[in-house]
Amino acid sequence: MTDEFGGVSVVVTGAAQGIGRAIAEQFYAMGARLLLLDCNEAGVSEVAKSLRKEGSPAVSCLVVDLADPLAIEVLAPQVQALLGGVDVLINNAGIELDLPLEKISAEAFDRVIAVNLRSPLLLSQALVPLFPVIGGAIVNISSIHADHAFPNAIPYACSKAGLMALTRNLALELAPRRIRVNAICPGYIDTPMWDEWLRSTSNPEEAARETESLHPLGRRGLPCDVASAAIYLAGSQSIWITGTSLVVDGGLTVRTHP
Ligand SMILES: NC(=O)c1ccc[n+]([C@@H]2O[C@H](COP(=O)([O-])OP(=O)(O)OC[C@H]3O[C@@H](n4cnc5c(N)ncnc54)[C@H](O)[C@@H]3O)[C@@H](O)[C@H]2O)c1
Repeated sequence: MTDEFGGVSVVVTGAAQGIGRAIAEQFYAMGARLLLLDCNEAGVSEVAKSLRKEGSPAVSCLVVDLADPLAIEVLAPQVQALLGGVDVLINNAGIELDLPLEKISAEAFDRVIAVNLRSPLLLSQALVPLFPVIGGAIVNISSIHADHAFPNAIPYACSKAGLMALTRNLALELAPRRIRVNAICPGYIDTPMWDEWLRSTSNPEEAARETESLHPLGRRGLPCDVASAAIYLAGSQSIWITGTSLVVDGGLTVRTHP
C-alpha cells in the first residue's frame, strides 16, 4: 500500500459493515484521515475502534440516520470540527427492499429513495462547502440495477438509476471547482446486504450457486473489489475522469448467454 491519501480527509457513509467498511479500511491503510457515518452505532463504533492505531491517522465516527434531512442539515459543523475539511466523500450507505410490484407501498418506495438517492444529494450539498476551493472527489456507490432489470427490485433500481443522474449533474455543477464526481456500479458483492437477499429466496444455497455461476470471472464480488475502484476514482490516477461510472461485476452484465 502507498500513502497516496496521506493527510487527505475522507467521509464514508454506511461504513459499519460490508462495502463501506472495506472502503474505509483501504483509505485508512493509504494514510487517509477518516470520518465514518452510519445509523448503526455499535457497528460504526466497532469499525472506528478496530482501525485506530497509535500514531496512525485520525479516525472518528458519527451516528446519523441519513434518511432524515434534518440530521444531514446539522452535520457540516460537526464534520468541520472532527476533520477540519473534506477532500473525498463516499456516498455508500444504501438499503434494498425486495418487493414485487403489488407489494410496493408509497412509504417503502420513499424510504429507499430517501436513503439511496436523497441522502447523497443532501450530504453532497452540505459538505461541498467544506471541500478545498479547488479539487476533491465524490464517489457514489450505485449498482448494476441502475441499467439492468432484476426481479422485485423496482424501488432499488429507480434509486440507483437516479443516483447515476445525480452523479452526472453534480459532476457538471462541481467541475468549475475541480471536484470530480463518479459512480461505481457493483454486481453481486458478498456483504450482509447480499446475505439478507439470499435468506429471502426460497433456496438460499441454490440461489448462491446460481448467481456465482453467472459470473464470467468465476466468483461473486468481495467488498475489497469495490473499495479498490473507489480508491481509483478518488485518487490522482483518475484525475481526468468525471461524471461517469465504473461497473465492478466480474463480467456479469456483459454475458448475454448462460
Ligand atoms: N452487496 C451488493 O451486492 C451490492 C451490489 C450493488 C450495490 N451495492 C450498494 O453498495 C452499498 C453498500 O452495500 P452493502 O452491501 O455493503 O450493504 P450493507 O447492508 O452490508 O451495509 C450498508 C450500510 O449502510 C448503513 N445504512 C443503511 N441505511 C442507513 C441510513 N438511513 N443512515 C445511515 N446509514 C445507513 C447500514 O447501517 C450499513 O452499515 C449500498 O449503496 C448498496 O446499494 C451493494
